[in-house]
Amino acid sequence: MNFESLSDIASYIVSDGKGILAADESNPTCTKRFDSIGVDSTEDNRRDYRELLFRSDGMKGNIGGVILFDETIRQKAADGTPLVDVINAQGSLPGIKVDKGLQPIGNTEENITQGLDGLNERLKEYYELGAKFTKWRAVINIGENMPSSDAIELNMQALAEYAKIVQSNQMVPMVEPEVLMDGNHSLDDCFEATSRCLESLFSNLSKNGVDITGIILKPNMVTAGSNSSTSVSIDDIAQKTLECLKTYVPDEMPGVTFLSGGQSDVDATANLDAMNKIGGFPWKLSFSYGRALQQPALKAWMGKSENTALAQAALSHRALMNKLASEGKWDQSLES
Ligand code: 13P
Repeated sequence: MNFESLSDIASYIVSDGKGILAADESNPTCTKRFDSIGVDSTEDNRRDYRELLFRSDGMKGNIGGVILFDETIRQKAADGTPLVDVINAQGSLPGIKVDKGLQPIGNTEENITQGLDGLNERLKEYYELGAKFTKWRAVINIGENMPSSDAIELNMQALAEYAKIVQSNQMVPMVEPEVLMDGNHSLDDCFEATSRCLESLFSNLSKNGVDITGIILKPNMVTAGSNSSTSVSIDDIAQKTLECLKTYVPDEMPGVTFLSGGQSDVDATANLDAMNKIGGFPWKLSFSYGRALQQPALKAWMGKSENTALAQAALSHRALMNKLASEGKWDQSLES
C-alpha cells in the first residue's frame, strides 16, 4: 500500500472501525505469557504463535496495524514468507516497538522510558524492513506522592522527542502515556493523573514541532485501580475517559487507540463500545490491545499445532468484536 503522508497512514490504520493488534511483547514478557500455558518461549514457538495470529481470517477488515517486537519484524513464516508480508497481505500495516524499556528515576519507585540513544539509526533499518509506524510506551504509577511532576515531565518530554525523530523518518509515532491500573486508587485519582499526563504530553509535542495529524495516541482508559474496592460502571469509565480526552486531545488527532492494561477482553470491548455509543468527539476512538485481543487465542492454542484453527477463530472473534465496538455497534449478546 502506498501513502502520501503520515496523516494518510494514521488515518488508514483506524479507518472503518479498524484498530491495532499489539503483538510487541518483549521476549521476557512473551515468556511470561507462554509460561501461563506451559509452552517454552523459544524463537520458533514465538514465531509459530505470531504467525497463526497474523494469518487469522479476522485480521482482514478489523486490524489496521500490528505492533511487532524487534525479533518478529525480522522473522519469516514457516513457508519462508516474511511475517511483514503476511501482515501486509491482510490489509494491515506493520509497526515496531522502539523504546528500550524502563529505568528507575534516581532512588524513586518511578521510571523513565529509555531508547533515545541510537534511535535515528534504528529507525532507518526498521523503515527498510517495512515498518509504517512505531510505538513508545511511557509508564506512570499512581501511589503515595505519585505520579510526581518530574516523572510526568521527563516521560512526556521523551515521548515528544521520540515522536519528532520518528516523523523525520517518515513513520507514524504512536505515543503511549500509560497510567497503570495497578493499585487501589479511585477513578478520580486516575482521571487526575491521566489529565496531568495528557496536558504535559500535548504541550511537549507542540514545543517539539510534532505534526499532530501524523501521530496516534495510545492512552489508558480512566478506570479505578485493579485493587480498588469501589466498583465503577461502564458508564462511569466511558464518561470520565471522554471528559479527559475531550479536554486535552486536539481535534486534528486522527486516532486514539486504547491499551487494555489488564482489563478483561470483554470489559475492554464493552468500555470502548460505550464511548463510541456516546460519541461527540472528532477523532476515531479505537483499540490497540495486547492481552484483550490475544488472551483467548493464547488459551486456545496451548502450543499445539492442531489447535491453530481454534486459536485463529478466537483472535478473529475478538478482532471483530472490537471493530464493532469502535463503531459503537457491539452488543453483549454477540459474545455468546
Ligand atoms: P495491553 O493491551 O495488554 O495493555 O498491551 C498494549 C500495549 O501495547 C502496551 O504497551
